[in-house]
Amino acid sequence: MTHLSSPSDALVFFGATGDLAHKKIFPALQAMVKQGQLKVPVIGVAKAGWNLEQLRARAHDSLEKYGGVDPVAFEKLIGLLRYVDGDYQDAATFVALRKELKDSRHPAHYLAIPPALFETVVEQLAQSNCARGARVIVEKPFGHDLASARDLNRVLLTAFDETAIFRIDHYLGKRPVNNLVVFRFYNAFVEAFWNRNYIDSVQITMAEDFGVQGRGGFYDQTGAIRDVIQNHLFQVLSNLAMEPPVRNDSESVRDEKVKVLKAIPSIAVEDLVRGQFRGYRDEPGVAKDSQIETFAALKLAVDSWRWKGVPFYIRAGKCLPVTCTEIMARLRKPPTLIPDSVLKENHLRLRLSPEITIAMGMMSLAPGEAVSLQTGEMVASRFPCADETDAYERLLGAAMEGESTMFAREDYVEEAWRIVDPVLKKSPPIFRYDSKTWGPAEVERVTPPGGWSNPTVSPEVTAVKAA
Ligand code: BG6
Repeated sequence: MTHLSSPSDALVFFGATGDLAHKKIFPALQAMVKQGQLKVPVIGVAKAGWNLEQLRARAHDSLEKYGGVDPVAFEKLIGLLRYVDGDYQDAATFVALRKELKDSRHPAHYLAIPPALFETVVEQLAQSNCARGARVIVEKPFGHDLASARDLNRVLLTAFDETAIFRIDHYLGKRPVNNLVVFRFYNAFVEAFWNRNYIDSVQITMAEDFGVQGRGGFYDQTGAIRDVIQNHLFQVLSNLAMEPPVRNDSESVRDEKVKVLKAIPSIAVEDLVRGQFRGYRDEPGVAKDSQIETFAALKLAVDSWRWKGVPFYIRAGKCLPVTCTEIMARLRKPPTLIPDSVLKENHLRLRLSPEITIAMGMMSLAPGEAVSLQTGEMVASRFPCADETDAYERLLGAAMEGESTMFAREDYVEEAWRIVDPVLKKSPPIFRYDSKTWGPAEVERVTPPGGWSNPTVSPEVTAVKAA
């Protein structure tokens, strides 16, 4: 189990007939072929009683629905596609896979399957000689709590070295999320104020204006904290709070992210408000007395040299008024002679979606002769381009090259669970909220100084996104 630097010479994806493959993987594969990034055999594995023709038809259907068929790239993809049908419990499935892999020495095995199946598949890969020299790409959710994440790591480490394990969090493949690091470290002026001396509070909001979209069965075992906060929003937080890495290699970058999480004490019950939208319990797959949160607002501390004393707030929810992910950092007020109530603080607003915005809020004299102040924003904004690389395409390409920076390391995942695990176990009360509102009234208990900043999305942006 030595460090592997050669690119993967085959891509195996388990769960080939599933939902994730349909929505994300086939579109990513076609795009990779189109970019000339994917030229090796792509072997789908599933237990569906299908043959290769059926998988090809499924790939076509996937592309018709998600992103469009590119005739030239699609033909090439179809040429690379293979299929192995069989039960994951059955050793014969893996014998067939080894045969299909032919002389491939460095396959990448992508486990796009429920975590309950990981152990079986990993064991079978090891026994069938498919794991040697290989990489493994693991889909989220990576565990359900700290103990299960450790178990999962233990299972993976029986067959793969940590450097060969690629844990997917698709937020790490998002350019606007990576841009946070670039914005902070490539602009000298940011360094001057991006610390506890100037920043008063930071809030991150991930709002979605839709519900669980038919995923009730999954969601009701998960909830907002496990679904998007422990993973996606902690990645955003790490990018906001980390120190500059001392080198550009993947481990130096990932070391800094782990340090951020290490500096965060586990969340206290009084610093969390959980909500559930009215109507959630009527969704298929959801328990009639479900105590799972579709909304969470929490406060945490980053007790590092840079951030000690600055509260960080995170809020995420389904069925909120808009779909938007945005960061709002408020600065301390200057010691002016005018009353504090008149003076609004400066802010930095960083929007990650649906469009990318960087805005600085500042005070100036309002027009007219009276001495009154107004807040204005200096805004830089752009729509993501239509041909922007999708997160999955970027991540799969990186994993096959063995580039680990955009993947969660074992210690990071475990630290992230450590922060949320105790409060999840205590299961604090759930408060109901109406769809299209900003969560339950009780959220007042966990509110940043100056209040939550509720993002609005202009109809123009919504129209561009829908197009
Ligand atoms: C997924 C969650 O991981 O991320 C979903 O399971 C959520 O519930 C989605 O809607 C959000 O991803 P994105 O890329 O649309 O912000």
